[in-house]
Amino acid sequence: MTIECLNECKWVLHTQKTTYAFGLGVDEMLTHLYWGPRLSFSSDIPEPLRTFHASFNNMQDMANLEYPSQSGMAYHEVCLKARLHDGGRDVILNFDSYSIGDVEIREEKCPKLTMILKDPHYSLTVHLHYIVYEKYDLIERYSEIINTGSELIQLDQAFSAAFYVPEGFPYRLTTISGGWAAEYTLNQEMLVPGKKVIESRRGATSHNSHPWFALDRGNSQESSGDVWFGVLKWSGNWKMSFEHTPRNQIRILVGLNNYDFTWGLLPKNPLITPSVILGITSQGFGQASRNLHHFQEDLILPKKHNKKLRKILYNSWEATYFDVNLENQTSLAEKAASIGVELFVMDDGWFGQRNTDMAGLGDWYVNTQKFPEGLDPLINKVNELGMDFGLWVEPEMVNPDSDLYRAHPEWVFQFPNREITRARHQLNLNLAKPEVKDFVFHMVDDLLNKYNIKFIKWDWNKSISEPGWPDVPKEHQQEVMVHYIKNLYDIFSKLRASHPNVVFETCSGGGGRIDMGILSFTDQAWISDNTNPYDRLFIQEGYSHIYCPKSMVCWVTDAGDDNLFSLKYRFYSSMMGTLGIGANLNNYTEKQLKIAKKHIKRYKEIRPLIQEGEMYRLLSPRAGNLSAVQYMNVEKTEGVVFIFLQSSKFPENRFRLIFQGLNPESQYKISKISQKLSGRLLMSLGALITLDGHFKSELLKVTQIE
Ligand code: DGJ
Repeated sequence: MTIECLNECKWVLHTQKTTYAFGLGVDEMLTHLYWGPRLSFSSDIPEPLRTFHASFNNMQDMANLEYPSQSGMAYHEVCLKARLHDGGRDVILNFDSYSIGDVEIREEKCPKLTMILKDPHYSLTVHLHYIVYEKYDLIERYSEIINTGSELIQLDQAFSAAFYVPEGFPYRLTTISGGWAAEYTLNQEMLVPGKKVIESRRGATSHNSHPWFALDRGNSQESSGDVWFGVLKWSGNWKMSFEHTPRNQIRILVGLNNYDFTWGLLPKNPLITPSVILGITSQGFGQASRNLHHFQEDLILPKKHNKKLRKILYNSWEATYFDVNLENQTSLAEKAASIGVELFVMDDGWFGQRNTDMAGLGDWYVNTQKFPEGLDPLINKVNELGMDFGLWVEPEMVNPDSDLYRAHPEWVFQFPNREITRARHQLNLNLAKPEVKDFVFHMVDDLLNKYNIKFIKWDWNKSISEPGWPDVPKEHQQEVMVHYIKNLYDIFSKLRASHPNVVFETCSGGGGRIDMGILSFTDQAWISDNTNPYDRLFIQEGYSHIYCPKSMVCWVTDAGDDNLFSLKYRFYSSMMGTLGIGANLNNYTEKQLKIAKKHIKRYKEIRPLIQEGEMYRLLSPRAGNLSAVQYMNVEKTEGVVFIFLQSSKFPENRFRLIFQGLNPESQYKISKISQKLSGRLLMSLGALITLDGHFKSELLKVTQIE
């Protein structure tokens, strides 16, 4: 049984290896009881707190409520805060009823539990939804907040869920921070009493902080130890709060950011919050990532392409920037095709008066000085060369110097009597406006109808500022950031339905808007504008904690010093996800083109292992001089390992590499190692490998011997 109700007072969700439980506690409130490794005996589930007597230890603070609301003596962070029609601000959420059923997700029936909570006096109901993904060891939680009366209810906070890790241990929190060109930095800190908050207020997921966390007891490793983790499926403003209470509870709240947010909850028009995906594993951070990878590949990435291999792309940005034209793109396309590229993407600069970043955004007609006969001659050429054609767009933005802005200045976010802040000389269109939503959909739809475009890179290069929305009554104006993202998702889903064969890439100055939400509508992500192959090892490692290699686009470019980075090193660094080329191939020598061709051929051979196998982080670039990542097919018979040495020191050139993900009882042949070795040995003592010099790299092939 994946979902059980025990004696009508405890609810238990089981995945293959985990259990999550809650029950009725004091005053019929839903109280969290357990989240951890799977329990076989229901008697192991702790009892809810039922009575207590203390003047300063009040119930709301002591009980671990599944969905705490602002009421009574709740002094901690809560999921729901509301202003009621009579001025009251106290919301009591008592258990009312529940239902167990299932939802069909991609032809699979997944068990679903819904708990219904109701305020005893006011017309406010909350449904807590739990979906169990048994084989992925994950559960999904989201909430539905419903006004069942006739008066408006103002919500000041509406999180998706609250949950807890078992009390009584010190906990270490792992988060991801970063910046433009420096995304996905892993941080670890012990939680101390007080509150740690990570969030985005930018209108998108953000480069600075990521809606993902992991908690462990301070000693879990890549392949061992309990790790609790969660990720929010949302591309707008979000917040995660980790509260270490005076009673050593760790209370985690996740959802829409309450910063600059209120929601006018209209009768019978529920607010459905974003989902949070939760998991726990006893096999360390690596298994936590793999569980998310499988889930993302099977159930998040758009279905049409989720099981297909991603094409090797060429992107023109770093080669020609805004200076694109028929001649230079044709020449790049010829070179790209000659080395084995499968998809040619023309980046920024092809439209309007887009000669620099100061003009043109919003004017999505082809620039005829650059392409006198439109895009067809280039697209035809690319297709003749055997490649698909892809195009860059940034539909949610406008330059003040554009025909679109001159025609519709009212389409951008703005407050009365205030200048609008510009960044990269551009402004944000307010996608919450129906006419803007229509414009964006039709603009991309028209391009896809008119041209043989098989790929869209969808960029977003300015965080939202001055988010005024004067078109709606004041009590709804602060909903704008949520409507914005819901409309963005609608646009994507309509585009995908009308153009099922088109592959979409999400981008926001690199990794500013990547999350499980946008990846439900886009097939892959451009994760950073930093294409230095060494820096990339760190960025890619951080990304891999959450998202699968197939979704991670990595280009070989000219960034960084050629004296430091050989083409081999550049390729190996970029072959660890979906390979792309962004170098100026017009400057490549014949020798370089030959080397590139050889690596692309090799990548094609091992691509299924990388894009569809399982990833094991053997050695982190954060931990030392040598880093390594292994990819194995699920049968554990074949794999590859990428190894990177930063710098030799002393006469040291032999390193021990401990493998993962092998069959202990099988023997393996590892390229560059003459002896055949057992999986057991390779996963315990490992094998000695030789590597010498600075910024050196190696690719090992792992093959099980029949
Ligand atoms: C930011 C992206 O991250 C780059 O790859 C490129 O597409 C530029 N925008 C184009 O303006």
